Amino acid sequence: MDIDRLIADRAKRIDASGIRRVFDLGARLKDPINLSIGQPDFPVPEPIKQAAIDAIRNNQNGYTQTQGIASLRQRIVEHLKADVNWDVDPRPLASADASKPGVMVTSGTSGALMLAFQVLLDPGDEAIIPDPYFVMYPHVCTMVGARPVLCDTYPDFRMTAERVERLITPRTKLVLLNSPSNPAGVVASNRDCRELLELCRARNVLLISDEIYDTFTYADAREPSPLGAGAPRCPSPARFPGAADDVLLIRGFGKTYGVTGWRLGYAAGPRRIIEEISKLQQYTFVCAPSALQHGAVACFDVDMSAQIADYQKRRDTVVSRLSKVTEVTVPGGAFYAFVKVPERLGLTAGAFIDRCLERGLLVIPGNVFSKRDTHFRLSYATDTRSLERGLAVLEDLMR
Ligand SMILES: Cc1ncc(COP(=O)(O)O)c(C=O)c1O
Repeated sequence: MDIDRLIADRAKRIDASGIRRVFDLGARLKDPINLSIGQPDFPVPEPIKQAAIDAIRNNQNGYTQTQGIASLRQRIVEHLKADVNWDVDPRPLASADASKPGVMVTSGTSGALMLAFQVLLDPGDEAIIPDPYFVMYPHVCTMVGARPVLCDTYPDFRMTAERVERLITPRTKLVLLNSPSNPAGVVASNRDCRELLELCRARNVLLISDEIYDTFTYADAREPSPLGAGAPRCPSPARFPGAADDVLLIRGFGKTYGVTGWRLGYAAGPRRIIEEISKLQQYTFVCAPSALQHGAVACFDVDMSAQIADYQKRRDTVVSRLSKVTEVTVPGGAFYAFVKVPERLGLTAGAFIDRCLERGLLVIPGNVFSKRDTHFRLSYATDTRSLERGLAVLEDLMR
């Protein structure tokens, strides 16, 4: 059978060869120094595991409401009130106060992004995404027939209103902000968030804020809330007055608590959009994994500050060592650094990565996340020994 004839252009248009090549080569290495990993290396806190185990034992294994279990929605709503001062109604959408923003639990942050793009983008529409980007962003655009418009954020990796404004056209439906960012770990400032929100409002474009790494914002990148209350936190456009009408806020549990395989995230924002996302979830994912939603309820009582402080120390090590041999933008959050291949080496990032592989080091070339091939992503979500070994190889190759 001519299988190729059967494959839709939607799938054919997606080229996953760059990242696959790195992983294939990595799989062939004996005892690789793996600095390519996009998930935390700490163990999942015990109370979270226990809550999921209890749910399975208590037979909470069936479908849940499309929107998520009531106890988890309740905790998310309380958290959003305390964190961004949104008044979300935790009741099911059908009975909730129509004047309030909506919320729903999704199958990972990816599930929320995928459904949001399906809800918002018609073929030919445009979505403005940062470059460098999280690998999924351009592909979800392509999957719905929309056009990803890349906002070049080099060299500081800030998605500013000034950079975005010139890309807006009558076909633009959304702007996607990711802070702290993957792959650069860059945190938007309060000012960046406010200006981007004002721009999107003025041009009638939805601002989607992917805040999957929000908890992993280091002390030096936190800022006081524009609301005036509480300790400094990761800046968010959601915290500005009236933002719940104009911002789709997407957050997750995977990275913060080390449960990436549980596939849990949530989306909150304009009620009409949440209703449409919920409708599509009903006919696709159906619901997020049920027992694990019960596990996620326990997340809200777990303090991750020790893990964040530990990652901040690793960040400091990476920056202090690599900045002696190349350019590296100081990450304010997440657990990545986006490192420039020194120009004096005269190499593309792809060619530099080959040299790393020869030395047993696995990092991800920048062209997996970008139109450019000048940087690579290093993840410091790994044990101290691997990080030490990896940094030593990089220092050696860059000298
Ligand atoms: C910026 C960003 N958004 C979304 C995701 C997807 O997260 P999830 O595992 O919750 O689907 C990732 C995962 O790496 C990410 O880095």
